Amino acid sequence: MFEDLSPAPPDAILGLTDAFQSDPHPEKINLGVGVFKDDAGQTPVLTSVKKAERILLERETSKSYLPISGSPQYAKGAQDLLFGKDHPFLAAGRVKTAQTPGGTGGLRVGADFLHLFYPRATVWVSSPTWANHKAIFTSAGFPVKEYPYYDAESRGLDFDGMSTALANIPAGDIVILHVCCHNPTGVDPTEAQWQKIADLAESAGWIPFFDFAYQGFGASVEADRRPLHLFAERELDFLVSSSCSKNFGLYNERTGAFTLVAQNAERADAAFSHVKKAIRSNYSNPPRHGGAIVETILADEALCAEWLGELDGMRKRIRFLRTELVRGLHQRGVDADFSYIEQQNGMFSFSGLNETQVKRLREEHSIYIVGGGRINVAGITSDALDRLCDAVASVL
Ligand code: LMR
Repeated sequence: MFEDLSPAPPDAILGLTDAFQSDPHPEKINLGVGVFKDDAGQTPVLTSVKKAERILLERETSKSYLPISGSPQYAKGAQDLLFGKDHPFLAAGRVKTAQTPGGTGGLRVGADFLHLFYPRATVWVSSPTWANHKAIFTSAGFPVKEYPYYDAESRGLDFDGMSTALANIPAGDIVILHVCCHNPTGVDPTEAQWQKIADLAESAGWIPFFDFAYQGFGASVEADRRPLHLFAERELDFLVSSSCSKNFGLYNERTGAFTLVAQNAERADAAFSHVKKAIRSNYSNPPRHGGAIVETILADEALCAEWLGELDGMRKRIRFLRTELVRGLHQRGVDADFSYIEQQNGMFSFSGLNETQVKRLREEHSIYIVGGGRINVAGITSDALDRLCDAVASVL
């Protein structure tokens, strides 16, 4: 049965972790997968999460199934995070949310749902984008194309290229937009540029599907949601996949959400019934634990404040590491302007290292970063910083 099968290539991001684990170098450094580490190189369980788990241990009385769309309290919490508790259209019933296994699960649920109604649509992703976007939408049956995004020369946004492309995407096609902390570049549109993107969505009639995996890692939980408000103000229908992997540190609890926003409650309910069908034939109903942690934290004022403090701490640490990385490279006499590293948002820095340099980092220094030159800044420790800067300086 399997005799004609050749092996699939390793995953561009998670495959690196496998390679890292089998590397015997005593000082190997993994800056591939987007996981936050503290200065001891650990990915800690947040204190607020531990406290919520203690509460759950006491309170939980059953392991029975959740509904197909997950816990209603979690869905409410996810919506509050996306839009803010008092956003008028939450009360209007225009927003429906399903608890999903991670943000990846949210994207796949959205893709399956969309494929039911737009089987001939094309999905448009930024160039570059998260390595898994293409695979998720291809697996759901869509052709995937790219719109311009990153300008390698200015190391910023190619907004002219992006807006020209978005203006020409046909009505009914699907456009994936990163709400903040663009993965892999860390380059986000400004508020004025988001306004223009919303104009284009409105005039061209394509379907906006937001990937919101890093809320709170950009400027703050509130500021990072701003693009969603801009789209909501225009009464546009749109979709969001959000994740609690990074901001709650719940990576392996697979805690995410798929949210749809419709013109009115009736349409939202009708659309959501099809989302539930897509879920039922996929994983039936979601795992509960991660969502139960999140809803416990959000429902308790003190715990919520503690979580926000921990999230602030993670964001500040990443900012500090960006500055240290730039300082370390300058100290080694590298003659280049690295200020862009400090301007990018979120966990990742698009380093500008080319494929040969990425390969040399791995083969000569046992330092693992994603092809294309994406460095997970959030994974750097003080111990690793000097070795990293030496190695980057040497391959440059
Ligand atoms: C990443 O981009 O490293 C993360 O989103 C983790 C993943 O699943 O790829």
